[in-house]
Amino acid sequence: MDAIEAITQRVSVAQLTGPDITEVQKTTLFQAALRAPDHGWIRPSRYLTIEGEARAKLGEIFLQQQEAKQVLSDEKREKTKRMLLRAPLVIVAVTRLVDHPKVPREEQLLSTGSGVQNMLTAAYAMGLGSIWRTGDMAECEGVKTALGLMNNEVITGFLYVGHANTSLKSVPEMNINEFVAPWTGETI
Ligand SMILES: Cc1cc2nc3c(=O)[nH]c(=O)nc-3n(C[C@H](O)[C@H](O)[C@H](O)COP(=O)(O)O)c2cc1C
Repeated sequence: MDAIEAITQRVSVAQLTGPDITEVQKTTLFQAALRAPDHGWIRPSRYLTIEGEARAKLGEIFLQQQEAKQVLSDEKREKTKRMLLRAPLVIVAVTRLVDHPKVPREEQLLSTGSGVQNMLTAAYAMGLGSIWRTGDMAECEGVKTALGLMNNEVITGFLYVGHANTSLKSVPEMNINEFVAPWTGETI
């Protein structure tokens, strides 16, 4: 697929299914992620893959963490436990935040965000579906500990990757002029 087509036509896909993502496809996804811009080449991003049984194990951890905070209905318990089973591959995008004289923390997060975006686009170009999710579990200290994150690391996203289980939604029509304007040099 043409690169411009992939960038302009990509849509997120929430309903995903198997088969599993192949090693070749995963390698392409991570090569794409590692081409994210990175101010100072400080390499703020790393990625964890959650597949197969590991998805259910992490789902149990999600459930424990939610239950420690509140009483859950049976429906919510099941939903929480099964959250990661919504795709054959879930990639946890992690940002290591450091104090740097030239690279503020926002830029470190943006670099990981660019890596995630690259993976979304690469997935689409390979005919896969994907969606970037966050939610409570991305902020949860117990989840971060279970995943082996250091104190200065944050979860920037859970990228769900699989095969679209539905037809793809259309790209919304957007008027470029509502978002773009020339600045002509005049100051107020
Ligand atoms: C940082 C970030 C976090 C997001 N978290 C969620 C989420 O938890 N759940 C969700 O349904 N969509 C989430 N989204 C939005 C979807 O990834 C997606 O962008 C949205 O459904 C619009 O679809 P589109 O990418 O096809 O335009 C998030 C997006 C970003 C950038």
